[in-house]
Amino acid sequence: MSDKKTLDDIRREYLQGGLSESNLNVDPIKQFDIWLQQAIQAKLFADPTAMNLATVDEQNRPSQRTVLLKKVNDDGFVFFTNLGSHKAKDIETNPNVNLHFAWLPLERQISIQGTAHKLSLTDNAKYFLSRPRDSQLAAWTSRQSKGIGSRKMLDMAFEQIKNKFKNNEIPVPDFWGGYLVKPERIEFWQGGAKRLHDRFEYQLKDGVWQLNRLQP
Ligand SMILES: Cc1cc2nc3c(=O)[nH]c(=O)nc-3n(C[C@H](O)[C@H](O)[C@H](O)COP(=O)(O)O)c2cc1C
Repeated sequence: MSDKKTLDDIRREYLQGGLSESNLNVDPIKQFDIWLQQAIQAKLFADPTAMNLATVDEQNRPSQRTVLLKKVNDDGFVFFTNLGSHKAKDIETNPNVNLHFAWLPLERQISIQGTAHKLSLTDNAKYFLSRPRDSQLAAWTSRQSKGIGSRKMLDMAFEQIKNKFKNNEIPVPDFWGGYLVKPERIEFWQGGAKRLHDRFEYQLKDGVWQLNRLQP
């Protein structure tokens, strides 16, 4: 006899709380900030700022990966990456992206649809220079998303870069930088009992955020 569970056995009720229009901020960025702070303070997440970034390539094939949110303000959501990576190439041909936060122990998700825009060199430098030295060296070492023969080659490349910049400030690689995702639609989801979840979408129409409740 196996005690292996079937996938049908994996289910739970979502009971932590509901969402109503009256307890949502009229500004979705402010609402996002409230949920982000609650996710950080809950201490349930090793990476509360981790978000999935979905892009599509020139043949409309989607892909996703996790990146870290580094800044959020009225302009939008900022992450940093290698500008020659798979995701950066996708954004070059199609700037439409989706960001997704899954704070599942809080029974919450947020989905953000928008367009990605490269940050200025000044903004890139400001963040790059604030990073730990090893992270700066790693950015120089990795031609992200390209193949490499072995782990040893990667470690050797890191050592070479480390020697190259020995005792010097490490400049910002020209193949590394940030993107600002300007949101057009932001959806907040809170799990509800009996699978009757609460969903609210904010849509930007003529510069004004409009709020609608969606069916679960
Ligand atoms: C928790 C976590 C955080 C990550 N943060 C970043 C990040 O901020 N920037 C980044 O380029 N990659 C980050 N990665 C790695 C990406 O998920 C991905 O592997 C990498 O960016 C290459 O993606 P691509 O080949 O689709 O462009 C992170 C991965 C994890 C699991």
